[in-house]
Amino acid sequence: LKASFRLDPAFTVAPVSRRTFGSFVEHMGRCVYTGIYEPGHPTADEDGFRQDVLELTREMGVSVVRYPGGNFVSGYRWEDGIGPVADRPVRRDAAWHSLETNEVGIDEFMRWAGKAGVEVMYALNLGTRGVQEALDVHEYLNQPDRTHFAELRRKNGADEPYGLKMFCLGNELDGPWQTGHKTAYEYGRLAAETARALRSVDTDLELVAVGSSHSGMPTFAAWEAEVLELAYEAVDYISAHTYYEPLNGDVASFLASAVDMDHFINSVVATADSVGAKLKSKKKIMVSVDEWNVWRQSKFAASAKAADPQEWPIAPRVIEDEYDVTDAVVVGNLLISLLRHSDRVTAACQAQLVNVIAPIRSEANGPAWRQTIFHPFAITSRLARGEVLRVEPQGPTYDTERFGEVPVVDAVATHDPESGEVSVFAVNRHQTESVTLRIELGGFEQRTFAVAEAWTLTDEDRSASNTAEQPDRVVPVESHEASVTEGVLKIELPAVSWNAVRLV
Ligand code: AHR
Repeated sequence: LKASFRLDPAFTVAPVSRRTFGSFVEHMGRCVYTGIYEPGHPTADEDGFRQDVLELTREMGVSVVRYPGGNFVSGYRWEDGIGPVADRPVRRDAAWHSLETNEVGIDEFMRWAGKAGVEVMYALNLGTRGVQEALDVHEYLNQPDRTHFAELRRKNGADEPYGLKMFCLGNELDGPWQTGHKTAYEYGRLAAETARALRSVDTDLELVAVGSSHSGMPTFAAWEAEVLELAYEAVDYISAHTYYEPLNGDVASFLASAVDMDHFINSVVATADSVGAKLKSKKKIMVSVDEWNVWRQSKFAASAKAADPQEWPIAPRVIEDEYDVTDAVVVGNLLISLLRHSDRVTAACQAQLVNVIAPIRSEANGPAWRQTIFHPFAITSRLARGEVLRVEPQGPTYDTERFGEVPVVDAVATHDPESGEVSVFAVNRHQTESVTLRIELGGFEQRTFAVAEAWTLTDEDRSASNTAEQPDRVVPVESHEASVTEGVLKIELPAVSWNAVRLV
């Protein structure tokens, strides 16, 4: 099969936002405990953080981490996690039916974030709590000194304020499963009042209103519209959450998950803009896709039903999905979709970072390793630089049960005007045929290009995955099938593959 497109440095979408390469650490399952934090582990540092996991986080190129939830945050009391650890209460976590020991709280997590070199996107509890508690935790995080919570932070060892910018005004409050679930009107009012109060104490904030938990919610779009009508001028972002899985063995549709992500993002943008038009506002609301990934949710639903309601475990194994080759291709394609929407999606968090539907896996007192989905994330984060370029691929299509006719090849490119480098990211969704992708670099006439690096992630065995025993069973391989001749970059895309090329 053959596909082609033309690249032109003048056709820019928007600058690459580093926040596109965000992740998510929730107090859920083994993401925190035995994930990022395990004091007894052979690699643990003086603060109890696993250095093997820290190293992988840095290698992955994570820019921002959403914390501390997720569903967890909607019942969380942040004060439980500060001060001497021995005095911290153990609490029930209603969201995941487990016990929270509170050994890790704000100060520990901020220390971890400093070591990982990531920004923190802090999620506020607007499920069981409200404006006052949001102000309190903001005071603890960002007030320099003299006030009650600022002095408490200093007493707890953090002299300087953390200076966080991005706050999520709650989590998935449209969902009936959420502790403190609300109607759009109840939530929109609360979000607006919380945002206004926070802005009255801090003028340098970026605030995210809760959007729909997924596009299949019965209230999808109506929720966004009502919430934004109430909170438009007070917030900067609306969140969007989306997870994908192969349903009933339909791999063809699963491989086209990014088509659905495109549609979802476009729908959220259209809804936000229609509210803006109605309010006669010049402001544009951005989209924070602050939970996205491949997640076998149907498997999780079955195991959740079977759980014993009398059990209150600490850091149990929850949704530790093992990812295969096809999952990695889909994740690479979802990143292509996020980049393509860089004009409106300026923050995104893959959910989650360690163990819980995660690119990094770790075992208590054991190894940490990269799942298959780690690789497209790490390479895209490293190579996507400068401006995102618009691409319009011409090529074959195929039929899917869930999304109709979809292109076999999906791609995006970036161009760094400073270094002159160009990166191309492309997937082949076809299950049996390879595709020769021809990219005309005509718009860059003055320059000649050479392939600096080219990577392909694919495998004859698409169910292959990485495990503790075989941590590098699936890795991207350097491709020798990419070349530039007379201003044309040619890449051979194997069936079911994710590919990246950097040109200098
Ligand atoms: O990431 C797992 C869960 O998925 C989060 O806690 C919740 O926000 C979403 O439904």
